[in-house]
Amino acid sequence: MSVKLNIAEFARRRKELIAMMEPNSIAIVATAEEKIRSRDTHYHFRPDSDFYYLSGFVEPGAVLVLVPGREHGEFVMFVRERDREKEIWDGYRQGPEGVLANYGAEDAFPIDDIDEILPGLLEGRERVYYSLGRDPDFDRRVMGWINTLRAKERSGAIPPGELLDLDHYLHDMRLFKSAAEVKLMRTAGQIAADAHVRAMRAAKPGLYEYQLQAEIEHEFARQGARFPAYATIVGSGANGCILHYIENESRLEKGDLVLIDAGCEYQMYAADITRTFPASGKFTDAQRRIYDLVLASQLAAIAEIKPGNHWDAPHAAAVRVLTQGLVELGILTGDVEQLIEEGGYREFYMHRTGHWLGIDVHDVGDYKVAGNWRILEPGMYMTVEPGLYISPDNTEVAEQWRGIGIRIEDDVLVTAEGCEVLTGGVPKTADAIEALMAGE
Ligand code: GLY
Ligand code: MN
Ligand code: MN
Repeated sequence: MSVKLNIAEFARRRKELIAMMEPNSIAIVATAEEKIRSRDTHYHFRPDSDFYYLSGFVEPGAVLVLVPGREHGEFVMFVRERDREKEIWDGYRQGPEGVLANYGAEDAFPIDDIDEILPGLLEGRERVYYSLGRDPDFDRRVMGWINTLRAKERSGAIPPGELLDLDHYLHDMRLFKSAAEVKLMRTAGQIAADAHVRAMRAAKPGLYEYQLQAEIEHEFARQGARFPAYATIVGSGANGCILHYIENESRLEKGDLVLIDAGCEYQMYAADITRTFPASGKFTDAQRRIYDLVLASQLAAIAEIKPGNHWDAPHAAAVRVLTQGLVELGILTGDVEQLIEEGGYREFYMHRTGHWLGIDVHDVGDYKVAGNWRILEPGMYMTVEPGLYISPDNTEVAEQWRGIGIRIEDDVLVTAEGCEVLTGGVPKTADAIEALMAGE
């Protein structure tokens, strides 16, 4: 099984972006920098998400330029040159000839020549689209190219006069997923679900959290999703109350719940799943009551995901169910409406119910438009991840609840009819989890 994006998909995106650009403009997008991990070794390179979205190109040391209407090609790439010696040490390079042949570039140059060539591409263009402030070094280089032209103004050069934010258009495009992207997201969701199932099956008291992390990440890699989309969280017992717990070094004890928040990146698209289950395979009565409440809130939130509803509707639904349930369990006291209004639930539920998902795990796209919550439309993809976290030190609540941390997270696509959960391959009712862990 291998699903990949076709180069036509990237061409369609560039065309769409070019159509939105103001007349006589140019867009510049650089990929990410390689980062040193320790002496002579680097972190695994990951291209910049915007750069990848427009090019499909995954080598470091590259810059993409869109120059609408340019006679010698609108899609210009600067990339590392082929170099036999360097390729023997560090791997293959496409070189300018490779991006012309394989990536749809219409003109291509060695990245080392960019300082000589880019001012010429800017010349006579009135507006530059660029993500200012993302990378200070690259900001300086862009200013340098513009200043090169300014220095030549007296000999007739016309430097651009306006810098425009590229993110505005590009991130709106990224918010709406195409059919081809949905295929990748579906695969990412299925692989991540398989990994969670595997970790649940493997879990037992006495294992260490990192051993479950290993089960998860081995399953990702085994299915071709070689990297997690974010650092895997395996929190047993009260560690589940720490939202971004990534130490993953504790031993699972009998009676613990285990919270795993893990998702793979498949062909650059993220999955983001959380499940919480008992280390021993059986929920205690108190754990099950909190679990059922979180699940009810998640289902209520998912029921709000449909075109026409706004971004905050799922969160509001989750907050209502959680607050009401906490009052019924005696964990919160007071009037439900007032507790919602004043945020009385926040001691136990301190994050939002979701975020956009895509090439970035916390994906781009505005949550509000002109001060109002964004209206959901088909093709948007988001997580739904309510939780309850009852601190082990909270002496205000009965002892049976203390140290319980539960989150349930799925990835949900807005469709014309409503929504579709793409991570449904991992069980989430308490009964289904117990059955799976019992080997049924
Ligand atoms: N795993 C990061 C998140 O759930 O937002
Ligand atoms: Mn998550
Ligand atoms: Mn998430």
